Amino acid sequence: MAILPIIEIPDPRLREISTPVETVDADLQVLIDDMFETMYDAPGIGLAAIQVGVAKRLLVIDLQEEEEGKKNPRVFINPEFSEPSDDENVYQEGCLSIPDQYADVIRPSSIRAKWLDRAGVAHDERIDGLLATALQHEVDHLDGIVFTDHLSRMKRDMLLKKLEKMRKQKHAA
Ligand code: NI
Repeated sequence: MAILPIIEIPDPRLREISTPVETVDADLQVLIDDMFETMYDAPGIGLAAIQVGVAKRLLVIDLQEEEEGKKNPRVFINPEFSEPSDDENVYQEGCLSIPDQYADVIRPSSIRAKWLDRAGVAHDERIDGLLATALQHEVDHLDGIVFTDHLSRMKRDMLLKKLEKMRKQKHAA
């Protein structure tokens, strides 16, 4: 296993549309393991393949919500959404590709999702709660969208300025 470099905005690869995974093979299993190791190391609760520079429709999530420190790794291959709920949730989101910046994002509070797990088994489930938010955030990445795209222009500019300032301070330190 390996910790992979996470790409950050404004890297243009984060705007790419990822292509469907065609076969769930040994190479993909290695990538999945590396993505988990990278995500746990960061640390984060979700990571899309494009964030490590691979434009495939694959993402990993671990909310680690059940018991403190207990891992609950989930793999979503070729995820698709339908039937978004009318009611919405506000959740303060962050992103490993936009380090240390957080903002409230409004999304449907539940969605119907279809995907393949890491064994290639098909799932079709209605998903709600934090998992619905995390999954929508990660699927956005597969379509070249980052969470700041959901903010007003003013909020987005403020957040990007803060990021720029933080990077300069880090560079100076
Ligand atoms: Ni993200």
